[in-house]
Amino acid sequence: MSRKIIPPSRPVTGTIELPGDKSISHRYAILAALAEGRSEINNFSTAADCRSTLLCLSRLGVKITKVAQRVIIEGRGLTGLRRSFRALHAGNSGTTIRLLAGVLAGHPFASRITGDSSLRRRPMRRVAEPLELMGAQVRARSGEFAPLDIRGGSLRPIDYTLPIPSAQVKSAILLAGLFTDGWTTVRDSAATRDHTEIALREFGAELRQAPPAISIRGGPRLSPRQLRVPGDFSSATFFAGLALILPGSELLISNVGLNPTRTAFLDVLAGMGAAPRITSVEMHAGELVGSLLVRHASLAGGVIRGGQVSKLIDELPLLAALGPYTELGIEIRDAIELRAKETDRITALCAGLHALGARVREFPDGLRVEGRAAGPLRGGVLQSHGDHRVAMALGIAALAATGHTTLRQSRCVDISFPEFFNFVERLTGDSPQPCE
Ligand code: S3P
Repeated sequence: MSRKIIPPSRPVTGTIELPGDKSISHRYAILAALAEGRSEINNFSTAADCRSTLLCLSRLGVKITKVAQRVIIEGRGLTGLRRSFRALHAGNSGTTIRLLAGVLAGHPFASRITGDSSLRRRPMRRVAEPLELMGAQVRARSGEFAPLDIRGGSLRPIDYTLPIPSAQVKSAILLAGLFTDGWTTVRDSAATRDHTEIALREFGAELRQAPPAISIRGGPRLSPRQLRVPGDFSSATFFAGLALILPGSELLISNVGLNPTRTAFLDVLAGMGAAPRITSVEMHAGELVGSLLVRHASLAGGVIRGGQVSKLIDELPLLAALGPYTELGIEIRDAIELRAKETDRITALCAGLHALGARVREFPDGLRVEGRAAGPLRGGVLQSHGDHRVAMALGIAALAATGHTTLRQSRCVDISFPEFFNFVERLTGDSPQPCE
């Protein structure tokens, strides 16, 4: 099992540019596979999750060539995927299984899609239910879990209100909507990332937006595209967080995605009196891309709850990890969804932060991490529970601690950000040592 020793870090300075966004890479790959002709995607994510999507697509008959982060995809048209007689494997990736469930629902053959032991424990009823309403047959283990057996076919449009805010479920329904002969509508009870909507338009689908409703017209011909994926904002937040809490730091993060449905983390920081500066912004294929300048600042802390939570869902582990470095501490509520992620992130964060020396309280729907008054973090022995965002969030808290930390199962960072420890090494000048 992989382990890293994390020593206390010096201030971080300089400029970094991060690998392509994971969420956008999944969407570009899937839509390129459904387009008529050859697409080229540059700066494709290095995440293991996105490799899972490419692997599933190639099992479905899509020709894919990948040289470093440039991916060429020969699209097979909207109904051109071929049946895979072997089960499709989504690995650890919730986005792969849920988005592809929407695509498979539109194809008139039987498919099985499964994942690793973590993914097989995550809820799938939320995606099976709307796809069944559209006319697909979706069988889940115990009605809830992967493997999913999907028999697709002629789908009918639906008008569906999401019971839980989820970009993955919204996306599955919109993708399935491509295979109907009418308008499919999804209503989201709270804002979630809109990369699917943006990418669908880029590839030529027709969408109508009347918030909180988004509708898609079935049966378009999708055109191939040449695209460049912006740097991953969620990966950037870890180093932004590190620069904020280490006195003397000043870090420029360039070419990073700044889609407003992803950047609520910046609004939270602004509310704590520590907003990073956006130094440039451009629009590429409907996505905002720019540079962020982050300087060390005093963080007030506060409570994160309600409508904020769905827009910050992947940044909540980091915010919890910044808690001990704030004046008032950080409290996160209304975030029970964190228990349905790659691991139960509430329990894993409470245990990890406690092991570092933080004062923490667990709630059914969140946690409270006491601020500076509870004393500095000393470092400790941590478990990532195989969850990439837990590993990176605790890793950041550990870098600003007074002593050394051992992080167990550290290799899980590969799921979204395989270069995480390389960047740590480059910025802190000290390499977190593997122990084996
Ligand atoms: C994602 C949506 C979110 C997020 C995940 C990526 C996406 O999941 O947590 O990391 O790319 O659509 P939910 O839709 O389950 O909230």
